[in-house]
Amino acid sequence: MKHLALLLSAVLCCIPLPVASQLAASVAYAPVLTPCPSGVSLLREVGTVDQSLSDGEHAYVAGRRSEVLPGAWGSYLAAVLKSMTGVTNLPEYVTDILGGTYGERGYPHFGIVTSGGGYRAAIFGAGVLNTLDGRNTTSVEAGTGGLLQAATYLAGLSGGSWLVTSLAQANFPTLPDLIFGPSASGKDSFGGWLTQFDLLAPSDDPLVDGVYLLDVVAEIMGKHSAGFPVTISDVWARTLSRHFVNGTDASNFWDDTLKHGAGLTLSSIADLNTFANYAQPFPIIIADSLSPNGNESNVLNETDIDVPLTNPIYEINVFEFGSFDPTLSAFTPTEYLGSPNDSLCATNVDQLCFIEAMSSNAYNVYNTSVSSQRTGAPVGDANLAYKAAAAVMELVVEAFSQLIPESKVELDVAIVPNPFHGVAPSTYIDSNETLLQLVDGGEDGETVPFMPLLVKARNVEVIFAIDVHRRQAADTEDNWTAGLSIIATQDRVAFFTDTYSFPPVPPLESTFLEYNLTKRPTFFGCESTVESGEPLVIYLANGGPPLGQPPLTNTSTAQFTYSADEIDKMLSQTFDIATQGIPEGLEKDPLWPACLACAVVDRSRRRERIERSGVCESCMERYCWS
Ligand SMILES: *[C@@H]1O[C@H](CO)[C@@H](O)[C@H](O)[C@H]1NC(C)=O
Ligand SMILES: *[C@@H]1O[C@H](CO)[C@@H](O)[C@H](O)[C@H]1NC(C)=O
Ligand SMILES: *[C@@H]1O[C@H](CO)[C@@H](O)[C@H](O)[C@H]1NC(C)=O
Ligand SMILES: *[C@@H]1O[C@H](CO)[C@@H](O)[C@H](O)[C@H]1NC(C)=O
Ligand SMILES: *[C@@H]1O[C@H](CO)[C@@H](O)[C@H](O)[C@H]1NC(C)=O
Ligand SMILES: *[C@@H]1O[C@H](CO)[C@@H](O)[C@H](O)[C@H]1NC(C)=O
Ligand SMILES: *[C@@H]1O[C@H](CO)[C@@H](O)[C@H](O)[C@H]1NC(C)=O
Ligand SMILES: *[C@@H]1O[C@H](CO)[C@@H](O)[C@H](O)[C@H]1NC(C)=O
Ligand SMILES: *[C@@H]1O[C@H](CO)[C@@H](O)[C@H](O)[C@H]1NC(C)=O
Ligand SMILES: *[C@@H]1O[C@H](CO)[C@@H](O)[C@H](O)[C@H]1NC(C)=O
Repeated sequence: MKHLALLLSAVLCCIPLPVASQLAASVAYAPVLTPCPSGVSLLREVGTVDQSLSDGEHAYVAGRRSEVLPGAWGSYLAAVLKSMTGVTNLPEYVTDILGGTYGERGYPHFGIVTSGGGYRAAIFGAGVLNTLDGRNTTSVEAGTGGLLQAATYLAGLSGGSWLVTSLAQANFPTLPDLIFGPSASGKDSFGGWLTQFDLLAPSDDPLVDGVYLLDVVAEIMGKHSAGFPVTISDVWARTLSRHFVNGTDASNFWDDTLKHGAGLTLSSIADLNTFANYAQPFPIIIADSLSPNGNESNVLNETDIDVPLTNPIYEINVFEFGSFDPTLSAFTPTEYLGSPNDSLCATNVDQLCFIEAMSSNAYNVYNTSVSSQRTGAPVGDANLAYKAAAAVMELVVEAFSQLIPESKVELDVAIVPNPFHGVAPSTYIDSNETLLQLVDGGEDGETVPFMPLLVKARNVEVIFAIDVHRRQAADTEDNWTAGLSIIATQDRVAFFTDTYSFPPVPPLESTFLEYNLTKRPTFFGCESTVESGEPLVIYLANGGPPLGQPPLTNTSTAQFTYSADEIDKMLSQTFDIATQGIPEGLEKDPLWPACLACAVVDRSRRRERIERSGVCESCMERYCWS
């Protein structure tokens, strides 16, 4: 990689930069400033206790509940019953709840969250979603297919945000179609994740990669010319765009005349037919704020964490950007993110690729601004740094100091003009900041994006959590999950008990390991009271290979290329992990589909004041942590 850095300097000195104004992608990536439509409000304050959802989300969820979920729960129930025929009988209440006996109010309020961890997380998360997908006959036969269709929400961060956004914007295809590309794809359709091309160094030739990265840098110059701060996160955005946004396939990857996804925005997902007819779970992405005003005593005590748990966590959805954290409790329309004021509105800032980049921006392990130049060593744990990050930093800082010598901003974070300037001055740490500095949604230690689903106004009662983050303890680093993230969520919720509730989880990673809680699905919150408001969490971690198989799913976060064959094998191993339950030796738990259904309906059961019974009683005993 040093080699690449040297070559890049050579490239920079001698090869003219592409003329940004002539690149279609540069034009399409630039924000547009126009007078605000009349009646637009750029600030919605949601209060700290009785918080409310946006009108758009409220309508979406209502539409999905009435038009999609009854059918979806019915199909899921049919799959569970079929797979359990001759194995066990489900208590009648499971059939009643999922079959609609109690009407709309009786259905589970169910959401899915999928973690960060680079491509490993995106692939493992996709494998689990595939196992829950009612369109996959293997998953339906296994008795798990259909839950994806029945979820109201799907939240992702970092590598999980690549999965969630690409799935949503590609019009909710099946997971294999998402990853490998549909059999027929056009220039503006989705061409697959293209994992054969490394995210930062897609060729075998450093010179070719250098020219590629210069093209990518040129693509952000239109945004700069429009008066918006640009950083390495924008460069990262334009590379991610070629993998996780429509507009690139293997045959046109190198064509620098194409837009490669520039111009496609998160707010425009509202126009897709799978969104208009409520066929998708409502997607939510999160990012952390790397505020200069954070309370450092609230940083999780781990080596490579540097964002205090109390810093605001921003969420971005099709309709709004903001935070339900009680310190802020405010939102702005996603479509107008970056607007200077109520009279001049910006559009085109909420580009899908930029949101993917903001949620996965771990570049702040390097402390970089043009004025400071790169400080030699990465800050924090070098393991967090992406491969080639050093070389790219070198190039970008170099290119920036030539192109934008006046830049004063930190280059290693994603920057958006602060829509909440002046809001909540006594509690919101960025109230005085004109720019928000955003980084990877997992940098406070919470790599599973629980927070948006803990918002009371969303009323999510059962959360299926996919945790693919690697273990933290350096001496056992083998890229399996050990529970830190969910512990961090418990710690964060403790700061905001009036706003969020979370079921008790063991406070130590060592407990997760001792009791194998990351090697088998675990339910948290089985004994929570109604008053506590705690959701039931179905926790599925990437904690070890299934059923005596050789491990395939603990690849390094820094692995930036995968062959189709490798992904196929990982998906199929993930299928086994997600369908094994607590295995007996090399046998999957034959009751797992029933136990999963018992957990999914458990809050509805409680609402209808029915006692647990039959197989559900023993299931809950076996799978619940207490
Ligand atoms: C992306 O492409 C898919 C087809 O692969 C299409 O259905 C969808 O509408 C496109 N999405 C956007 C945002 O243009
Ligand atoms: C920072 O957090 C600590 C621990 O939660 C708290 O005691 C302290 O008051 C906080 N400091 C500020 C300035 O808010
Ligand atoms: C954090 O870790 C350090 C070093 O292990 C230890 O001295 C310190 O007490 C810990 N702090 C907290 C708040 O746990
Ligand atoms: C809105 O922002 C623009 C650009 O910064 C500025 O020129 C204009 O005066 C502002 N308008 C108001 C009403 O503040
Ligand atoms: C980052 O760089 C700035 C400016 O050079 C410096 O003030 C700051 O202390 C550095 N931060 C870290 C964590 O090294
Ligand atoms: C913002 O600035 C005002 C005036 O300088 C100051 O009183 C206030 O404490 C600052 N707020 C924060 C959160 O830093
Ligand atoms: C995956 O896990 C196995 C067994 O724990 C370990 O030997 C291997 O080194 C791990 N691979 C990676 C890339 O961490
Ligand atoms: C955890 O798994 C190991 C190996 O499969 C097993 O030996 C051990 O008994 C399990 N621990 C518990 C508490 O179930
Ligand atoms: C796990 O991944 C990290 C990078 O994320 C890598 O440095 C480490 O060597 C991996 N562990 C093993 C055992 O391969
Ligand atoms: C269904 O999932 C299985 C297991 O991962 C996979 O092999 C198969 O290709 C999938 N089928 C479809 C149609 O997506």
